[in-house]
Amino acid sequence: MRPFGDMLRRNKGPILWTACSIGLVALGLYLYYVMPVKDLGPAQPISFSHRVHSGVKEIQCEFCHSYVDRSRHPGIPPVEKCLYCHKYIIANHPEIKKEHRYFDTETSTPWVKVNYLPEHVFFNHQRHIKKEIVCEQCHGKVETKDRLQGVSFQMGFCIACHREKKANLDCWSACHN
Ligand code: HEC
Ligand code: HEC
Ligand code: HEC
Ligand code: HEC
Repeated sequence: MRPFGDMLRRNKGPILWTACSIGLVALGLYLYYVMPVKDLGPAQPISFSHRVHSGVKEIQCEFCHSYVDRSRHPGIPPVEKCLYCHKYIIANHPEIKKEHRYFDTETSTPWVKVNYLPEHVFFNHQRHIKKEIVCEQCHGKVETKDRLQGVSFQMGFCIACHREKKANLDCWSACHN
């Protein structure tokens, strides 16, 4: 064991450097792969990107969320609507093949919902869209995101705008039921 101890002592510098480098690389890998990434929503069954569709290709929100000015819920487009384009565009992309699988088996795509309001809060898109409030005011810059993250809607957020726009502030009869 003696010579080994000598060797360690003689090469203290390089060994320390190596150890430090390995430590730094490990830390880097940890931060890159394991740390929860901020500003990135949950993985979806098909890696759909709002940045590509709304940002780069400038497809209108209403084209996909067609019920937004007509009902309480904007709705998520059915896979038929995706195939309307993707029958022709990048038809052989593996993610588009998933669309065909959902379509052929008549399964609705299990999109992970990201926005919630508490059970007792009443919210209606139609009323807001009719007053020309843009999506961005509540949902942020959706067209820059690959994976959407939910917004945590606090009551103060609703109230602040209702006060400013002189909308209904009678919470108990209007917003809570
Ligand atoms: C109005 C046409 C249109 C509709 C509707 C549409 N897409 Fe696309 N999609 C595109 C275009 C254009 C591209 C870019 C293709 C390219 O990169 O050449 C694209 C790209 C993609 C990609 C590849 C993205 C990447 O990272 O390169 C996926 C996955 C995708 N779409 C999924 C969907 C899904 C799921 C739906 C339905 C919810 C949908 N698309 C609806 C036009 C459309
Ligand atoms: C090509 C179709 C398409 C277009 C265009 C599109 N969306 Fe979407 N949107 C989807 C799909 C599919 C989902 C479900 C998957 C996801 O969350 O990424 C979704 C989800 C969402 C959600 C989250 C729903 C939830 O889970 O609570 C919001 C908010 C949203 N879209 C807003 C917008 C806005 C604002 C625009 C315009 C800037 C827009 N979308 C344009 C297809 C589209
Ligand atoms: C005044 C705020 C506000 C505006 C403006 C607004 N949203 Fe929303 N949106 C919400 C809230 C709050 C929820 C979650 C509650 C719910 O699901 O009803 C939501 C949920 C959604 C969802 C989830 C899907 C669903 O059916 O539950 C989609 C998609 C969406 N919004 C799209 C849009 C689009 C597209 C626009 C613009 C045309 C828009 N929103 C404008 C507040 C807003
Ligand atoms: C950016 C501004 C804005 C935000 C944010 C906003 N609202 Fe509104 N809201 C309005 C306006 C303006 C009206 C009036 C619409 C009308 O007169 O038809 C309205 C109307 C309503 C109504 C109908 C009230 C009635 O008279 O019956 C309800 C319910 C409501 N909002 C709930 C909410 C909730 C819940 C939130 C938060 C998640 C919210 N709003 C966020 C602007 C906003």
